[in-house]
Amino acid sequence: MTVGPDTLAALLKRKDVLPAGWESVFGMVAREDFVPARIWPDDTEALLDRDRDPEAWRRAVYSDRALVTQWDDGRHSGTEAGRLATSSASTPSTLAEMLYDLDAAPGMRVLEVGTGTGYSAGLLAARGCRVTSIEVDPHLARRARENLAAAGFGDLVEVITGDGTLGHRAGGPYDRIQVTAGVRRVPAAWIEQAAPGAVIVLPWGTDYGSGDCALRLVVGADRRGASGPFTLATAFMKLRAQRPDWRRYGGAALPDDWTAYARATTTTLGYDDVVGGPFDPVGFVLGLCVPDCLARPVLHGIFGATLWLYGADTGRGHSIAAADFGADAPTIRQSGPRRLWHEVEASWHWWNARGRPTIHDFGLTVTVTGDGVVDQQPWYGATTFPLVPPAHDWPARGRG
Ligand SMILES: C[S@@+](CC[C@H](N)C(=O)[O-])C[C@H]1O[C@@H](n2cnc3c(N)ncnc32)[C@H](O)[C@@H]1O
Repeated sequence: MTVGPDTLAALLKRKDVLPAGWESVFGMVAREDFVPARIWPDDTEALLDRDRDPEAWRRAVYSDRALVTQWDDGRHSGTEAGRLATSSASTPSTLAEMLYDLDAAPGMRVLEVGTGTGYSAGLLAARGCRVTSIEVDPHLARRARENLAAAGFGDLVEVITGDGTLGHRAGGPYDRIQVTAGVRRVPAAWIEQAAPGAVIVLPWGTDYGSGDCALRLVVGADRRGASGPFTLATAFMKLRAQRPDWRRYGGAALPDDWTAYARATTTTLGYDDVVGGPFDPVGFVLGLCVPDCLARPVLHGIFGATLWLYGADTGRGHSIAAADFGADAPTIRQSGPRRLWHEVEASWHWWNARGRPTIHDFGLTVTVTGDGVVDQQPWYGATTFPLVPPAHDWPARGRG
């Protein structure tokens, strides 16, 4: 049997992720019209080349998988996977679930950030929306424009080459904004260019981990803020300018006097408690609770693991902590003005004492506070974060 758009629509229907009115849309837009000849399905990272194996390529195109189409911002060539995946055709079921949240109806003006192949812009156009889609990479933007024109959506989608964090004022005000790249700071432009009551759906996360959660924001009447819950655990390639910036975290360098100074303590928590698996809520929740912190878990074979925590310099210098887990009792070492491990541990106990709420119980309020500046306030019901104010009362260097 030949697989095609109907196969994908039926698959998504079986997974129960298709919003009402979208089955025909997924059946109408052929993903093969957008996906290039060379792809790396993200669960294998092995090249599939349409010219060498058209059947396998087609099966991958109509599967529910993200298909990497670019590595290292286009600097990588060859058949091997590159260092960092920088563009893809997004996972269809993730797109379907985000479209459910977006609730875009025919006739609406939609801004999309992160055009990629143009497939998700094509879905919105097939739904009857008027779409402005922004792609930062000129080569990808040109290809997406060609793909959309060849698929018959050229008149319905305007592809802009540029930085999507600036939005595109001329196409607004937008009824809906869909973002298909991971966000760490919501740009003020999206709120300012949205219509009052507009819905913005974006993958959002913290520097703590590489995962994201889809966030459904509703824009306020004055267009100075937006708020809403997290709806779906996922992971997206990040906006180019919002990838983790190691310089902000001291370049992950250890202080010269790390071994002499870092105070050793222990903990009752285990590695799995605070790291969790992919899409586990714990890493995401800890990231909400412990701001300006980058966590890096490192496995040492089967015998142990270290969770490194790097604190950004927010005016008092960098902080660093290492939690070593192995056969013996864990060892915690901390240095710098913040006790990062204690912040993580206290946050974990807070989360555990509440019955380990999932990401759906959390949300974010974004307020435009100045020219292009936003404040991001995570919340859990009436509780706002950080729970434990970053502690700066650690004994002075050399003591304790
Ligand atoms: C996961 S892909 C989008 C996939 C698309 N939804 C599809 O199904 O084909 C993310 C895209 O965002 C683009 N991107 C990254 N930073 C951007 C920015 N600041 N403005 C616009 N696009 C950006 C990347 O170049 C990449 O093509």
